[in-house]
Amino acid sequence: MQRVLVTGGAGFIGSHLVDRLIQDCEVTALDNLSEGLMENLDRHKTSRQFRFVKGSITSGDDVETSMAGVDTVYHFAAQPDVRVSAEQPINDFETNVVGSMNLLDCMRRLDIKRMVFASSGGTVYGEAKTLPTPESTVLRPISNYGAAKAAFEMYLSSYSELYGINSVSVRFANIIGPRSTHGVIYDFYTKLKQNPTRLEVLGNGTQEKSYMYVSDAVEATIILGQQMRQGYLPVNVGSGERLTVSRIAELTKEELKVMDARTEYSGSRSGWAGDVVMTNMDIRLLRSFGWKPRVHIEDGVRQYIRWLVERFGPVKKKP
Ligand SMILES: NC(=O)c1ccc[n+]([C@@H]2O[C@H](COP(=O)([O-])OP(=O)(O)OC[C@H]3O[C@@H](n4cnc5c(N)ncnc54)[C@H](O)[C@@H]3O)[C@@H](O)[C@H]2O)c1
Repeated sequence: MQRVLVTGGAGFIGSHLVDRLIQDCEVTALDNLSEGLMENLDRHKTSRQFRFVKGSITSGDDVETSMAGVDTVYHFAAQPDVRVSAEQPINDFETNVVGSMNLLDCMRRLDIKRMVFASSGGTVYGEAKTLPTPESTVLRPISNYGAAKAAFEMYLSSYSELYGINSVSVRFANIIGPRSTHGVIYDFYTKLKQNPTRLEVLGNGTQEKSYMYVSDAVEATIILGQQMRQGYLPVNVGSGERLTVSRIAELTKEELKVMDARTEYSGSRSGWAGDVVMTNMDIRLLRSFGWKPRVHIEDGVRQYIRWLVERFGPVKKKP
């Protein structure tokens, strides 16, 4: 049985990945619980195939403890917020670059040869001129978060040449689904819960991005991990479908039954510093691995909102 380490295993995507990997692997999850929740892993607590290490990717000891005996590292731990990376660039660098290097170099010392890395197709290319954007496009990130993802990818390239560590860099679209407590849909839900009569949208609503439902993202990750080749390979992982922010606002209001809420746009082209307003990832390489999307993205948005309502409560109209 394969033994895998999932960093960020208590987080949104990481915990769904643990749910899937545990079907045929022994899984160790490493998470410092800064964002992740133990409740996301509750169902595995008593499994003999599962081990949880509470610790940080920035600590040599925590990384070494969690990596012992592992064949493949799924590296999903990160400071995941573009806005935070603009406000605290050094902290972002410490987690997303130094922490990631800590893992990769521990793999070199322990002779572990396979890594699947959660990168970001929505940020590493910046404002790409070629749309849909293929993996061969020059990386010109416009956020520190995107710069950190791109920087670590370059080390995946050098470590594959120097030490034979094979890797797939999964360049995710915006991933949505149960257990996510960040991103535009969560933001809209929280705002409407506070005030069901008004929805403030950052930007002018025309930002249009690639989205993907979490079960599709996990399935793509598994396929890419299983078919890992020699060397380092970046792969765009999206559904091929895009949504504008205005459409997301409409779907959210509809699903929360507050269609009469007034939508107010802050007016600027981008929502915040480092926001890439247009992403459209070319997913032909991913499809060549035999992957197909299962969840139509508008259905995914609705399913996710239903989960938010179940987990955090309905939006109540004021009498
Ligand atoms: N959600 C998306 O749309 C998206 C898109 C592109 C890339 N990604 C990447 O996918 C990965 C997972 O993202 P997510 O949306 O599930 O975020 P998340 O915040 O839910 O998960 C990240 C996890 O990492 C943990 N963590 C943070 N710092 C840590 C540290 N120093 N040591 C150990 N654990 C630490 C957090 O507690 C959290 O559980 C991240 O690398 C993120 O950058 C996500």
